[in-house]
Amino acid sequence: MSRRHPIETAVFPVAGRGTRFLPATKASPKEMLPVVDKPLIQYAVEEALEAGARRLVFITGASKRAIEDHFDSDRELENMLQSQGKSELLKQLRGVLPSYATCIYIRQPAPLGLGHAVLCAAPAVGDQPFFVHLADDLIAAEEAVLAQMGRVFTTKQASIIGCETVPRSDTDKYGIVATSGSGDTLRIESIVEKPKPAVAPSNLAVVGRYLLSPRIFEHLARIGRGAGGEIQLTDGIARLLVEEPVYAYRFRGERYDCGNKLGYLEATVAYALAHPELGRPFRAHLKKIINATKTNGAARSAAKRR
Ligand code: G1P
Repeated sequence: MSRRHPIETAVFPVAGRGTRFLPATKASPKEMLPVVDKPLIQYAVEEALEAGARRLVFITGASKRAIEDHFDSDRELENMLQSQGKSELLKQLRGVLPSYATCIYIRQPAPLGLGHAVLCAAPAVGDQPFFVHLADDLIAAEEAVLAQMGRVFTTKQASIIGCETVPRSDTDKYGIVATSGSGDTLRIESIVEKPKPAVAPSNLAVVGRYLLSPRIFEHLARIGRGAGGEIQLTDGIARLLVEEPVYAYRFRGERYDCGNKLGYLEATVAYALAHPELGRPFRAHLKKIINATKTNGAARSAAKRR
């Protein structure tokens, strides 16, 4: 692999239909769901930019035009804000995508799985290592997780997968790795997609952050369908690690699984509490609700005793 850093390209597979959020995601991509005031895909792009990426490759599917529109400039809206003197909003709008970044959109012709989506990015990525970012996994961190992984890359010069420990009972929701070594960065010995808890090699799970060697493409092109009848990125990584080292990196940060409603709500509350303007009033409101619930509960118990 090249010794060049930062990694220039980040791939965002955004072709999934987001069925868990229907009907909200019927006509609008799940990546456009907002957490407080930004859509998930914007958090994703900001993380990649912080890690040094400049070429942003979106693997899209049906009903994803809103993502292209979001990262495109909107002259009409900008003119309107300007004439209304809303300069702060205008600044925010223009800051959605810095001018040095380039967006590339590639349509995944059929929903054949994450591995297939990543393979669709091959012509745009070329022969350099690249990031893959799954916007569902929102991670609040002091240093963006992809940036942390970029730093690990400068010493390891190898593929790096973002990982975290999950409850044993949840292994069938993730790619699971078996590792050797100790510390934050562990050599992956094997990887398997969504094993049942009884047969999982560990409870160290892959989350949606990858820094991959371009050799992954050769493997993705060759492997057949795996778990769930899909071409799995995990299976491509399993082949890759036979020929070159691949590391699991335990990132520093708090992950919210915005692919399900509860995780999405948890993220919304956490990001609202941390918001510079909304944090204080929102905290006060939450306290009020909790106190009201307590009071109501006490009133209900008192009523029952009567
Ligand atoms: C995908 C990957 C899985 C990984 C997960 C992280 O699964 O296939 O290996 O652990 O993302 O979010 P999905 O959540 O798309 O089913």
